[in-house]
Amino acid sequence: MPTASPRVTLRRLQESDVPMMLAMESDPEVMRHSTGVKPADEARRRELLAWLNEPQTDIGHWAIVADGKAVGWVSLTPLEDTGRIQLAYRLCRDAWGLGCATRAAAQLCDYAWQRLDAPELVAVVWPDNHASARVLEKLGFAFSAHAQHYGRGTAVYALPRPHEPAPR
Ligand SMILES: CC(C)(COP(=O)(O)OP(=O)(O)OC[C@H]1O[C@@H](n2cnc3c(N)ncnc32)[C@H](O)[C@@H]1OP(=O)(O)O)[C@@H](O)C(=O)NCCC(=O)NCCS
Repeated sequence: MPTASPRVTLRRLQESDVPMMLAMESDPEVMRHSTGVKPADEARRRELLAWLNEPQTDIGHWAIVADGKAVGWVSLTPLEDTGRIQLAYRLCRDAWGLGCATRAAAQLCDYAWQRLDAPELVAVVWPDNHASARVLEKLGFAFSAHAQHYGRGTAVYALPRPHEPAPR
């Protein structure tokens, strides 16, 4: 369990993160506002290992490391066929409420502005996921629209690329 105000860093997901990912995916409370619980079985473990071995691009998933322990992931991925890049995050239950999601997502937004030429980032939230909406608000995202994604009604939040400081 991380401390009350953990130091949060990001790194790419690796094979040793698979047990943590399986634990999150099989926890109904963690998956309440996501696309569904998955059993932590051997078939899923193999799927995750194969997925982790796919070639990396400049977007994808990063492990959230709190005080040295991997407690979840944060990601930049294409939002279905919209051409937009979405921010998402998932944390183990014992790491909730410590500011980890906000700190990790802030770091990944900074990365996105530095490394990608996206004009904005978006995030898709189940309408009753108030904790996630709060994380987005703390990052500066604003509600943009209700839209159908992943076969359900969702709330879409957007964060425009920050203005570059004018050259002096
Ligand atoms: C949503 C989630 C990522 C938040 O992670 P976290 O590390 O606890 O988030 P933070 O501590 O950075 O911030 C959470 C904020 O939401 C607030 N919050 C928590 N539960 C809330 C609720 N039910 N209603 C309103 N606000 C809530 C917290 O008070 C905090 O805001 P504050 O700093 O102003 O007090 C985490 O709960 C999670 O992994 N949930 C399951 C997966 C998920 O839903 N992912 C997002 C899919 S869109």
